[in-house]
Amino acid sequence: MSELLKVEGLTKRFGGLVANDDISFTVNKGEIIGLIGPNGAGKTTLFNCITGFHKPTSGKVFFDGRDITALPPHRVSKIGIARTFQITQVFPKMTALENVMIGAFAMTNSVSEAKDMAAETLSFVGLGKKMDVSGESLPPPEQRRLEIAMALSTNPSLLMLDEAMAGLNAVEIDESLEILRKLNKKGITLIIVEHVMRAVMNICKRIIVLENGRKIFDGEKEKAVNDPAVIKAYLGDVYHAEG
Ligand SMILES: Nc1ncnc2c1ncn2[C@@H]1O[C@H](COP(=O)(O)OP(=O)(O)OP(=O)(O)O)[C@@H](O)[C@H]1O
Ligand SMILES: [Mg+2]
Repeated sequence: MSELLKVEGLTKRFGGLVANDDISFTVNKGEIIGLIGPNGAGKTTLFNCITGFHKPTSGKVFFDGRDITALPPHRVSKIGIARTFQITQVFPKMTALENVMIGAFAMTNSVSEAKDMAAETLSFVGLGKKMDVSGESLPPPEQRRLEIAMALSTNPSLLMLDEAMAGLNAVEIDESLEILRKLNKKGITLIIVEHVMRAVMNICKRIIVLENGRKIFDGEKEKAVNDPAVIKAYLGDVYHAEG
């Protein structure tokens, strides 16, 4: 497998707080990685550093062999990395179709082409019948899915999802997992930040665990569930909570 993303010694400080502490890992093309850890562990900060929303204090990010550490978000998006946000960010007054068309314009200047591409993407995520509904009128689970469609509209090779399953019921989680599986089959590499462990265990082969900004585990999920440090930091509580 060839390397797609490489994070090297990434540190992000906010004043005295070290949100990401010397984190290194690589992601190969075609992988589905679960990035987990307790609240405040630094998962979203790591996403922000990779996608150009934060500038790392030190360390490097490489994508497809290219140093992208200093690139702003729109350039990161152009080279093939898309992400969703922990707090859903859709344009409330625009229709679902218009929300997705914005990204499609990165691919084409033609309005009709952008419309066709957006409609196809919305159908793919199961929102084919909601194209004319405004972002704010969609229920939260469908807003999450709209955000995935928006991310897909830029034709990414790496998709990073920040708690895309939060607030979804069991059926909606299964539907989302099916969408992610189909995306991966199309060749899209996935990094998934998720507290819904059933989803992580279902779809990810490899798991990276953060605690207090530090990477404490990186390996097969079967090993993660038996790793004392991972259980102590996170899984013990989560499994307990999920019963
Ligand atoms: N912009 C910021 N300014 C200051 N501190 C921040 C900022 N963003 C995050 N932090 C702090 O960095 C730490 C890591 O936060 P982060 O949001 O990355 O955690 P997380 O793993 O995504 O948590 P959660 O599971 O709750 O989403 C926290 O202590 C948080 O308060
Ligand atoms: Mg977060």
